[in-house]
Amino acid sequence: MKKYNKRAKEHWSKTAVVYQIYPRSFKDSNNDGIGDLNGIIEKLDYLNDGTKNSLGIDAIWLSPIYKSPMADFGYDISDYYDIDPIFGDLKIFEKLISEAHKRNVRVIMDFVANHTSSQHPWFIESSSSRNNPKRDWYIWKDPKAHGLPPNNWLSEFGGSAWEYDKKTGQYYLHKFLPEQPDLNWFNPEVVREMKNILRYWIKKGVDGFRLDAIAHLAKDKQLRDDLPNPDYVSGKDNPHKSLLHVNSRSNLDVIPIIEGFCNVIGKDHFMVGEISPTLEELASFYQACAEKIHIPFNFNLINLPWNAQAFRRFIDTYDQVIGPDNLSNYVLGNHDQPRVASRIGKDRARVAAMLLFTLRGMPFIYYGEEIGMEDYLIPEDQVQDPWGKRVSGFGLGRDPERTPMQWNKKPYAGFSNGKPWLPVNKNYQEIHVESELSDPHSILSLYRKLIQYRKNFPVILRGSYHSLDAGDSSVFSFMRELGDEKVLILLNFSEQKKTITFDFNKAKVAVNTHLDKNFGIEANLKNFVLRPNEGYVLEVAKR
Ligand code: GLC
Repeated sequence: MKKYNKRAKEHWSKTAVVYQIYPRSFKDSNNDGIGDLNGIIEKLDYLNDGTKNSLGIDAIWLSPIYKSPMADFGYDISDYYDIDPIFGDLKIFEKLISEAHKRNVRVIMDFVANHTSSQHPWFIESSSSRNNPKRDWYIWKDPKAHGLPPNNWLSEFGGSAWEYDKKTGQYYLHKFLPEQPDLNWFNPEVVREMKNILRYWIKKGVDGFRLDAIAHLAKDKQLRDDLPNPDYVSGKDNPHKSLLHVNSRSNLDVIPIIEGFCNVIGKDHFMVGEISPTLEELASFYQACAEKIHIPFNFNLINLPWNAQAFRRFIDTYDQVIGPDNLSNYVLGNHDQPRVASRIGKDRARVAAMLLFTLRGMPFIYYGEEIGMEDYLIPEDQVQDPWGKRVSGFGLGRDPERTPMQWNKKPYAGFSNGKPWLPVNKNYQEIHVESELSDPHSILSLYRKLIQYRKNFPVILRGSYHSLDAGDSSVFSFMRELGDEKVLILLNFSEQKKTITFDFNKAKVAVNTHLDKNFGIEANLKNFVLRPNEGYVLEVAKR
């Protein structure tokens, strides 16, 4: 195993593949049915053992593991300085960091800054009386006439964003659950304390942070109403969409707060923000930190229709806005989104994977995506996600994408010996790590191959990007170039066979999504055949 190299010149994030772990569902080491830190340690070799047998990722992002009453499964923190006993303790966490670093794997913590748990001692104090010194750490406001909430803001998880507190006669703001009261980011004490939390985890050795729900940190100081959304279709759309959230959150106004974090974390570290800036706003985010250690997530591939031209248009513009020196990123799924294999289908998920690992920038993998895990519809009486429970009928529940990792075909898919907190997907007999590791054609083998290829070919890590006209609108093709090295990527988005021609005199296959063409075999780009849902990475020389 290679030693963790702190002195590398290029920032590690520039070449990293990040793997998101939802700790509750990854691996349970003590058989209580809930995944934990020791479970993650057990599986680090699967993620990266320094050989091409493992997945080969460079960093893990852990969804929250802090002390929490788990109203939103960890996104409601009651102690930012400790680990929830369900997951382990600080000692085990330190072991996880050192074991990860031994394998050259960085550790990114989730950082929930918008809200705490209602059981956090700060909120308990804050709600104890109107003149408690911590009152202003949260957002309290008198009722409007007739006892109504102070404004029309809506909770992401359904209903008003305000909860009335009988004891003190005021409402408090919660953009998510009532159990997740919003902190007041206009209060400098809050800002100071949150920065201390970052420093604390950096001292423990973490390498970066994923900033949760950060657009919500920037709210209108005067708490003005949000505006009605003229495009909202009642009964069809999620009721949260009935408003345009122009005052309750802001993309650009959060940038100064991010800059404040950048000053704290220092240039060896990295931050990625959960925020969706428009293409017009994007450039401002890349100017935010002098050290370029912060990027905003790019969730756009999740929402685009599966259409080669739509992908080409978006990626061309996005890549151009980001520019050659900044770090772009691409995401196919996470703990809040339907899984990619269910969203677009198994075969297309392989094409999407090839795209993910051959574009410029940082690819994110959501645990299980690499084995083609699919959503699993949870029987109503076993639903866990509070969002799904509070707003039913719109398919908002996030349990389907959070089911236990499928390790093998033993009971509970080898995730645990005890009954898991969410049922295991019934397909675990067919879809699991163990069989896919030994199947040279599995999607896991494709992930390993693509990650390996990326690592070994600077053209993929650092080369420029430009798309090409493939002569067929359902084929997305693009070039990566670095000096003399040229790699052509061809992705057939359709269910039909496609024959295309390019004017290159020599091409060699690097990887194809079906994994049935050997590395290095020659390919003739005159009348080149792409089978349905097939993608190729080809090394080419220009005529
Ligand atoms: C983010 C998280 C989501 C969580 C919410 C509230 O959107 O990704 O899982 O429920 O913030 O913290």
